[in-house]
Order: sequence, then C-alpha cells, then structure tokens
Amino acid sequence: MAKGTVSISVIRRLPRYHRFLKDLLVSGTERISSGDLAARMGLTASQIRQDLNCFGGFGQQGYGYNVKALYEEIGHILGLDKHHKAILLGAGNLGRAIAMHMDFDSRGFDLLGIFDHNSQLVGREVRGVAIRSSAELEDFCCENHPDIAILCIPKEAAKRIAPMLIQHGIRGFWNFSHYDLSLEYDGIAVENVHLGDSLSTLCFRINELEQDS
Ligand code: NAI
Repeated sequence: MAKGTVSISVIRRLPRYHRFLKDLLVSGTERISSGDLAARMGLTASQIRQDLNCFGGFGQQGYGYNVKALYEEIGHILGLDKHHKAILLGAGNLGRAIAMHMDFDSRGFDLLGIFDHNSQLVGREVRGVAIRSSAELEDFCCENHPDIAILCIPKEAAKRIAPMLIQHGIRGFWNFSHYDLSLEYDGIAVENVHLGDSLSTLCFRINELEQDS
C-alpha cells in the first residue's frame, strides 16, 4: 500500500472495525459476512467491502470474513503490533484519568513516564507509573527515547514544550491540550482530541431532532 493512498476517513473507521471484531472474537464467532458486520456496525455491506478493499480485500466470496484473521490484519494495518514508547505530560484530573483507564498495552504502547511540574504530585504513582518532575523530562527523553507524547497540560504549556519534545525524537502527539500542534509542525503525527467538539456535535443533532418534531 503506497503511503497516503488511503483516505483519512477510511483510516478513522479502522479502529471501530477492530473493536467490533474483537467483540466477535471474544464471543467465539469464527466468521462473519460483510452484511452481518455492516448490520452490527450501522454501515452498509458495500461500505465495508470498499473500506477493506483499500488494503487488499480479505473476504472470500460465499464465506465472508475470518474474524480472527481480519482482526489481526486490521491491527497490523493500524500498527498496533508495533511497540511504541509513550510519555504523559500533566498528571491533573484528565492526565490521571487517561493513565488510569487507557489500555495502552493492547495497542502496543508502553507508558514509560508521567511528568508534572506540581511538586505535590511528584513521587505519586498512577497505575504503577511514577509521576516525575517535569524538570527531569529532557534527560528522561535523552535516556529513554520515547516516540509518543500525551499532552494533558494547558495550551500555553503545550506550545512551549512541543519543540523540545520534537527535538528529542517525539514523532506523535495524542493532544488533549487546546493548542493545535498540527498547524505548526510538518512531519509529526498529531491526534487532537476535543471532547467539547463531540458534545457540540451532539448539541447540533439534538437541535435537528427538535426541528423535525
Ligand atoms: P488540571 O489542572 O487538573 O491538570 C493540569 C496539570 O498539568 C496540572 O497537574 C499541572 O501541574 C500540570 N502542568 C501544567 N503545566 C505543565 C508543564 N509545563 N509540564 C508538566 N505539567 C504541567 O487540568 P485537567 O482537567 O487535567 O486538564 C488538563 C488540560 O486539558 C487543560 O488545559 C484542559 O483545558 C484540557 N482539557 C482538554 C479536554 C479535551 O477534550 N481535549 C478535556 C478536558 C480538559
């Protein structure tokens, strides 16, 4: 598959396929037709076929998809079978919730360290990972070479700290701060997460329903 040939909207659907296939796997389902998978996911069979054809297909006429093989293949396409070293900046309410509840392991992420500049938090642990002083961050990056940074710090702090992280080899940001890194840095993968945007979308959809009734 040539780099950049698959649209971002298809790529954004892959984690959802992966999640549904995992549920099927856990429930002991060995194979599934594109029609059945589509019905479970609220998509059409042709949409699923089209999406998966971007990566070479995987289904067999009259058989459907082998659930385990497709689950593994999509995981491979997503790169979940690779190993990534992550650090998390900001051990406040959001950072602690993410460190506590996110299943990093199953996605191939190793959370190496959590950093905060609040000395009262330093030394505590979140899910077995120690919170370190942000004064140690640069040395830590030099020694451990993390490639992903999870930003749960305020906008201004994210803006200030990003160049140093990139200089030390960070290639991807899971960015919860409200600073849009992707506008400034080429060649760096940024996933901006805005829960507020999702809530605003819900608001729009509720308004639409009210106008229809
Ligand atoms: P918080 O105030 O509980 O935690 C922020 C933490 O970051 C504090 O512990 C603080 O000491 C630390 N910090 C600040 N500057 C730092 C630096 N340079 N290096 C290391 N640590 C630093 O805030 P909360 O609720 O955890 O939110 C964190 C950020 O995420 C806020 O800026 C907030 O606006 C944003 N946020 C984003 C959401 C989203 O959907 N994208 C949802 C909720 C919050």
